[in-house]
Amino acid sequence: MDLIKKHPVLTFQHKKKVEFLFDGGSMEGYEGEPIAMALHANGVKIYRVTPELRQPRGFFCAIGKCSSCFMVVDGVPNVRTCITPLKAGMKVETQRGKGKIAIPTEARRGQ
Ligand code: FES
Repeated sequence: MDLIKKHPVLTFQHKKKVEFLFDGGSMEGYEGEPIAMALHANGVKIYRVTPELRQPRGFFCAIGKCSSCFMVVDGVPNVRTCITPLKAGMKVETQRGKGKIAIPTEARRGQ
């Protein structure tokens, strides 16, 4: 994908390129950009599948005010990827349904 590098009014300062995983495959994005933007730049338009009707969802508000971009990030479901910064090595997965909450072993034992 071609990036806008020169603009008469806006300036763009991309941070360093980092690798992350999406549904098991490797992708690249810019550190600190929203996860959803990095996915969009890589051609990914579906971020979750609704629980009841199994319908695909992508961007809607893109400002953290809805639930359209919910994904599983590093094992945590319901992460709003349009406002969550990308970090190197993140594991991003399409969320199917409500997502399962991973409860740490210590918490299950009541520690
Ligand atoms: S697209 Fe609405 S919260 Fe992310």
